[in-house]
Amino acid sequence: MSTTNRHGLFLTFEGLDGCGKTTQLRLLAERLRAAGETVIQTVEPGGTSIGGAIRRILLDPANDHMGATAEMLLYFAARAQNIHEIVIPATARGEIVISDRWTDSTWAYQGFGRGLGVDVVRRLDEIACAGRKPDLTIWVDVDLETSLGRAKKRNEDEAAADRMDAQSRAFYENVREGYRRLSEEEPQRVRRVDGRGTVEQVAQRVWAVFETLESKNV
Ligand code: TYD
Repeated sequence: MSTTNRHGLFLTFEGLDGCGKTTQLRLLAERLRAAGETVIQTVEPGGTSIGGAIRRILLDPANDHMGATAEMLLYFAARAQNIHEIVIPATARGEIVISDRWTDSTWAYQGFGRGLGVDVVRRLDEIACAGRKPDLTIWVDVDLETSLGRAKKRNEDEAAADRMDAQSRAFYENVREGYRRLSEEEPQRVRRVDGRGTVEQVAQRVWAVFETLESKNV
């Protein structure tokens, strides 16, 4: 891919908790920076100071009685701020933005996991993101055992561990199914990468997918 047509790309990483997407995002960002690109990393929920405040509300165990709709709207509120404060301005300057999670997380976790359905997620995405979609989404796919095992090991963060324990296996099965369906519906944008193996092996797969953008001439 020539350097010029990388400019202004908006990339996202998706997957189950503990799938390894955050490590892969960092490695891709480093590789692109080494190639001379300016790369902005952001995260959902969060990424801006307002998003950070919303994240604290969402992840606070004291709020575990929050309704599924309120939860979904808060994810979109954080995203609406992220798109206007970070994604649109940075990509307009020709920088590459890579986000750790985006609307596809809401599709998978709220639409499928919590059973809210995908139509409402689509409609809210149009409102919150003003029609802007990622140019490429890398779905780092691991099976449930790997996801839960890795996430628990990683979580010195007690709150996150508790949150995961509280969710049923069925919930995560549904979330994974959500990602699978999404990659079927939008096969050009949402690309599955096998998350098994070493960090380096997965990073090579991610890079190979990234390079296919060239042939599509984004
Ligand atoms: P986080 O600690 O950032 O987990 P991870 O490192 O795996 O991304 O917590 C984010 C949690 O929020 C994660 O369990 C997925 C969930 N989530 C949703 O349910 N809906 C969303 O729209 C987003 C962005 C995240």
